[in-house]
Amino acid sequence: MKKENIILVGYMGCGKSTVGKKLSFVLKQPYLDTDKLIEQKQNCQISEIFDIKGEAFFRDLETECVESLFVYKQKHVISVGGGLVLREKNRELLKQLGTVVYLRATPDTIFDRLKGDTTRPLLRGENPYQKICDMIIQRGPVYQQSADIILDVDGLSVEEVADQIEKELNL
Ligand code: S3P
Repeated sequence: MKKENIILVGYMGCGKSTVGKKLSFVLKQPYLDTDKLIEQKQNCQISEIFDIKGEAFFRDLETECVESLFVYKQKHVISVGGGLVLREKNRELLKQLGTVVYLRATPDTIFDRLKGDTTRPLLRGENPYQKICDMIIQRGPVYQQSADIILDVDGLSVEEVADQIEKELNL
């Protein structure tokens, strides 16, 4: 197993950021989050980027962001936005960048965690539960294809998920 960066992928609300921060602490590897890097660089929130420039523009920023991650010599824990792996180019880049871990969660788990969230532009409007179900059906195979390791996270605490990743990676 590759022992470079650890990259967390998966649908919104699957726990990429919380698990990423935990792993970063435990492994003493700095943490990066593509959404946060994009927001810092654009000096603007993700939802504003979607509103003002549109999703396609945001997807280009994601590719730019992943490309910029190759400069680091030190190993990092990196969580990436839930839609970043939809682009084949991004999936290829991530595989070169490190070990990709897919945190797989059911629509019920996701819905429960994201209830009341207003920061995800793709879940605004009517019937977010249905949107989550539809998107997970559509994206599930892509997440799987992007990943070196798949972990089912339903019912697991942040610590348990982080522990399982450590075990899988023999860290
Ligand atoms: C998106 C996921 C979000 C963010 C944007 C689009 C997606 O990141 O990048 O709202 O397409 O799934 P999180 O997965 O961190 O919520």
